Amino acid sequence: MADSLGIVILAAGKGTRLKVDIPKSLCPMLGKPLVDHVLSNLDSFQKEFDIRAKISVVVGHKKEMVKESICTSWPEITFVTQEEQKGTAHALQCYFDQNKDAWNSKYTLVVCADTPLIGKEEFSKLFKALIDDDATQASAAVFETANPTGYGRIVLEGKGFDIVEEKDADEVQKKITLVNSGLYFFRTSHIKEHLGSIENQNKSGEFYLTDLFKRSFNVKAVSYKDSYKFLGINNLVQLEQACEIKQKEIIRNHQLAGIRFLNSSSCYIEESVQLAAGTVIYPGVVLEGQTKIGPECVLESGVVVKDSEIAGGSSIFANSYLEGCKVNEKARIGPMARIRPGSKIGESCKIGNFVETKNAQLDKKVSVSHLSYVGDAKIGEGTNLGCGFITCNYDGAKKHLTTIGKNSFIGSDSQMIAPINLGDGVYVASGSTINKDIPSGGFAIARQRQVTKEGMAKKFLKKKD
Ligand code: UD1
Ligand code: MG
Repeated sequence: MADSLGIVILAAGKGTRLKVDIPKSLCPMLGKPLVDHVLSNLDSFQKEFDIRAKISVVVGHKKEMVKESICTSWPEITFVTQEEQKGTAHALQCYFDQNKDAWNSKYTLVVCADTPLIGKEEFSKLFKALIDDDATQASAAVFETANPTGYGRIVLEGKGFDIVEEKDADEVQKKITLVNSGLYFFRTSHIKEHLGSIENQNKSGEFYLTDLFKRSFNVKAVSYKDSYKFLGINNLVQLEQACEIKQKEIIRNHQLAGIRFLNSSSCYIEESVQLAAGTVIYPGVVLEGQTKIGPECVLESGVVVKDSEIAGGSSIFANSYLEGCKVNEKARIGPMARIRPGSKIGESCKIGNFVETKNAQLDKKVSVSHLSYVGDAKIGEGTNLGCGFITCNYDGAKKHLTTIGKNSFIGSDSQMIAPINLGDGVYVASGSTINKDIPSGGFAIARQRQVTKEGMAKKFLKKKD
């Protein structure tokens, strides 16, 4: 079977109707380009049939950008160039012209890059419809839809059918609600026989792949009930619809795995995100990229987590923003905390409101409860950083490190002029600006001595009118 199937993904089009700058195939759907969704779905389909087909993507518009993006996640994919987009049949012609081996595959699967919801079940059903019947030359997936606008209509005629594109359809044909999905399996011999004779005598002046389906050919239209699976993304309305469908599926899987959402429809959770059972997600939570949340965590409203790991039992309170960080077990973060890349928050740490950390390692049970900046720092276990603690890590050119040992107490409104090194069990008095290292057990106070003059306040107090 391995050599019998060639897969071609059509992704050369401009996607003009989307009205966005990036090529349609790279439009993100839940953090992943549309074409990557198609590739993942094809991967699942192939696993089911235990096949490893060669996959080619036809690129054209902004081809270097499309190639580069696909290569980063799918290095084994090959590319075919369609310099000028003369239609889907022309794209298929380019595939065979530039890929002579492709004629040797017994079957050819053609799918568009803009149908990201077609899953392994749909691929499998259509493939079986072809291979189980020797006489059938090709199978096209079709479905009923209340709104057929934009789709090719399936015009049934006796035992056969034609596919008529919207632009070429007459008023009666336009009312047909049975439409073409753009997914096809062919016996490659059928393509060889007819592809060359497709003409572009139609309203678009394009070579239509759909002309491989004609009432005179022995081809099958295979009907599907779940029409949403074939949603083709031609504009941003359809892109949002597809995102919503996929989002519901992702969240449903999490719910069945024991994750409790208080209002799932207001959350945005990308497919790459991993969640463990027992975690509770409040309304309006955004989880993106390579994010992993452990068991029994609580993520309150407005929390955004990108490319981060949060270990079990941690609570992230409302409106906190975490990116590129690692949070250990039972930490408490926020509300309104910002944990920036390179932050490693230790077990049972407490990070309160308006605290920002960056490239900072906080060991177990460190407490930074209010209004602080901890950047380029290493803070030892059990140390308390008082309200208004600031690492002065930047000298205008370079970043410098602040190190504080374990079980130290840094009073409120203290600044550390980095590079600086404080030992274990250090005590820094409130309001100190520390610019010299303090050894373990040391006490430091670095502020002006207070002067009090009795009765002198009246000289300064102003009377209000
Ligand atoms: C196509 C089908 C239509 C079907 C619909 C389903 C044709 C002629 N029409 O229409 O019957 O109902 O999909 O979504 O096939 N592409 C190329 N090169 C080209 C033109 C297009 O690679 O020269 C690629 C596009 O990048 C896209 C795919 O082919 O991924 C389909 O093109 P699109 O313009 O979206 O076709 P539809 O109008 O949606
Ligand atoms: Mg389309």
